[in-house]
Amino acid sequence: MQDFVGRDVITVGDFEKEEVLFLLDAAARFEGLSRPILAGKVVATLFFEPSTRTHLSFESAVGRLGGACIGFAEAGVSSQAKGETLADTVRVVEGYADLLLIRHPLEGAAQLAAEFAEVPVINCGDGAHQHPTQTFLDLFTIRKECGRLDGLNIVFMGDLRFGRAVHSLVAVLTAFDAMITLVSPRYLRLPQEQRHVLARAGISYREMTEPDEALPDADMLYVTRIQRERFADPAEYEKVRNSYTVDLEMLKAARDNLAIMHPLPRVNEIAREVDAHPHAAYFRQAHYGVAVRSALLALILGRAEEVME
Ligand code: NCD
Repeated sequence: MQDFVGRDVITVGDFEKEEVLFLLDAAARFEGLSRPILAGKVVATLFFEPSTRTHLSFESAVGRLGGACIGFAEAGVSSQAKGETLADTVRVVEGYADLLLIRHPLEGAAQLAAEFAEVPVINCGDGAHQHPTQTFLDLFTIRKECGRLDGLNIVFMGDLRFGRAVHSLVAVLTAFDAMITLVSPRYLRLPQEQRHVLARAGISYREMTEPDEALPDADMLYVTRIQRERFADPAEYEKVRNSYTVDLEMLKAARDNLAIMHPLPRVNEIAREVDAHPHAAYFRQAHYGVAVRSALLALILGRAEEVME
């Protein structure tokens, strides 16, 4: 059994490939599980940015495992509104909880929280940087939908510049021999840092502004929302906001078994008509968040053994 007890989850780079695979296997055992293995444990959610899936799937996981959740879902109702620093908030809340879940608009906020907290910290999204638990549930989904993780042809499309879910997933895919195509407007290109990660790992990738050439060979299409809140200039957002819409017409060029994923929320980048497509996986993907986050919490809090044996 891999040792997750007491660990922070700040970036996907904190975990070896074997550990990630172990987590996915553990998550399969937690699917649909309601069992009070987290009785007496308290998890705090410090969410300084909007969230539906990450926040509620973590709360659902804690509830199904018999633990308790405390916290806030908006910076305005925390003492940040009175001028409290993140470091002070963390120092206080760690006295109330066994684990901290943090989402924050600033890159590096989760790392900072982890430096101040004695209890484990899980990064639930720090600015445009990383979103590791999204990546774990994305991998869980890919394995279910595509039947494997290795050697897949994967197309990322949308906001590759500000999309933290993309940054984390791209980094992990280097360990799985993926062929990657990056489709975005020039302005929303995958940042140099992540392109270097791919290049250093010897992963072949191509970049294009239109999906036509990429779709026919793809095993999985990962679509993302244009991250409006990260644009310093609203005029730049206006220029790219309607860059792509995946519809059934576009999918005619794709394989019948192309898995279509999206971390959600969706704005207009996938037409509603696609929802009925048998391989539109995005709602299943969001639901898998409970199993993956249940496993992660149980492992970090040292309560997974009775489910794993
Ligand atoms: C993502 C995020 O917050 O980065 N949402 C999520 O957690 N599922 C993606 C997004 O907001 O576009």
